[in-house]
Amino acid sequence: MKKGFKDGFLWGGATAANQFEGAYNEDGKGLTIADVSPGGKQRMKLLRDDSYPLEIDLEKYTYPNHLGIDFYHRYKEDIALFAEMGFKTFRMSISWARIFPNGDDAQPNEAGLKHYENVIDELLKYNIEPTITISHYETPLNLVKSYGGWKNRELIGLFEKYARTILERYASKVTYWMTFNEINTGVLGSFFTLGMRNESLNNNFQALHNQFVASAKAVKIARELNPNIKMGCMSIYATMYAYDSNPVTVAETMEENRMFNYFCNDVQVRGEYPTYAHSFFTKNNVVLDVQPGDLEVIKENTMDYLSFSYYMSTTHALKTAEKEESEGNFFGGTKNPYLEASEWGWEIDPVGLRIALNDLYGRYGVPLYISENGLGAVDKVEEDGSIHDDYRIDYLRKHISEMEKAVTIDGVDLMAYTAWGCIDLVSASTGEMAKRYGFIYVDLDDEGKGTLERSRKDSFEWYKNVISTNGVAI
Ligand code: BG6
Repeated sequence: MKKGFKDGFLWGGATAANQFEGAYNEDGKGLTIADVSPGGKQRMKLLRDDSYPLEIDLEKYTYPNHLGIDFYHRYKEDIALFAEMGFKTFRMSISWARIFPNGDDAQPNEAGLKHYENVIDELLKYNIEPTITISHYETPLNLVKSYGGWKNRELIGLFEKYARTILERYASKVTYWMTFNEINTGVLGSFFTLGMRNESLNNNFQALHNQFVASAKAVKIARELNPNIKMGCMSIYATMYAYDSNPVTVAETMEENRMFNYFCNDVQVRGEYPTYAHSFFTKNNVVLDVQPGDLEVIKENTMDYLSFSYYMSTTHALKTAEKEESEGNFFGGTKNPYLEASEWGWEIDPVGLRIALNDLYGRYGVPLYISENGLGAVDKVEEDGSIHDDYRIDYLRKHISEMEKAVTIDGVDLMAYTAWGCIDLVSASTGEMAKRYGFIYVDLDDEGKGTLERSRKDSFEWYKNVISTNGVAI
């Protein structure tokens, strides 16, 4: 077996429009769900509370996403820095509301289309392959307020129109696409994913069904436009452990694992609802509205590759057991005594990434794309302006090392690795700037104060070296 990462391995970084573009109301852009999501640690709680108004209230809250890090105006400078690091790919999303401000407009907004064309051309100038996420937590607000979010089947057609518009425009320039970011957070009823808050399990799974159909339709359009295009699904994967060897704990863990880690991938990669999902629906009285043609379009338009984000693992104890809870991104779990956690309580588990890669490749046999991984941490700027983020290097080094074992020892077909938030940006779960992931520091704080100047952290040179040696020098 050949050693190391394959030739043409796509090293790079990942972002999302709503977390870094800013310019939230410029050039005809409409509001998205992210634009009404307040910053601060209360964000997740507020997003689950369906009595909370979906409007901007500047007297009560701050909205860091409105400014982001101003990539919208500074993309040339930022892309030059990505090129300096040697990026082979850059993962970004398109904000639906820049193209269709209300989500249901008759005509697309040319200024939005032109903007993304400029960004794509700038990347291509440096031979950086864009990877585009069609929907990353950016559903237009109008589709939530007037249509009730993704449980409404009308969104399938509206998404199809949006996807067709951007695919027609960029299909000849962009090879790698993902449909919905972390679609499986919809299983937990995530507002960012479904555009719905605090609804029934039935509505959550109906919304996911509608997204599966919409995603498959986008795949169909893409292949008709350019057969060389590679379409991927995208889930958050949290390696799931049973807390103990009690077979009952293991069985419960298996059930949680398949509904969270497998369900959406099974539908999108294998092209059909798995048997266990039908059992789950029966047990929970979930009855889906499946229209003629839905299952066929899902079956005929499966994914070329599977992408996933990986930040942490999660541990499952019996519901009756009294164990200390761990904090998590979208899921909690029991504290794992073998793992340390980040300042935000996310349990750091590099070996879990090797397990994830083996698990997913063994199950699906399609190329894998790690579309997010990284450490959110507070960075200190020294008097001379330097930033010594050895903790970040340590986190990434350990994860890349496990990734390398999965490739060289276990034979996993891995095509890409894009570190999350390669340039500091607004956190999704807490709306903070203080939680930084970047190789590039952005001078901006949680109150929106700062020069927005960019500077290189120590991890910048380190990652540049990782890329130039194709992962040998970590
Ligand atoms: C993923 C999301 O869940 O995690 C990103 O796709 C998000 O949008 C990332 O930013 C890190 O999470 P957070 O909350 O630290 O920003």
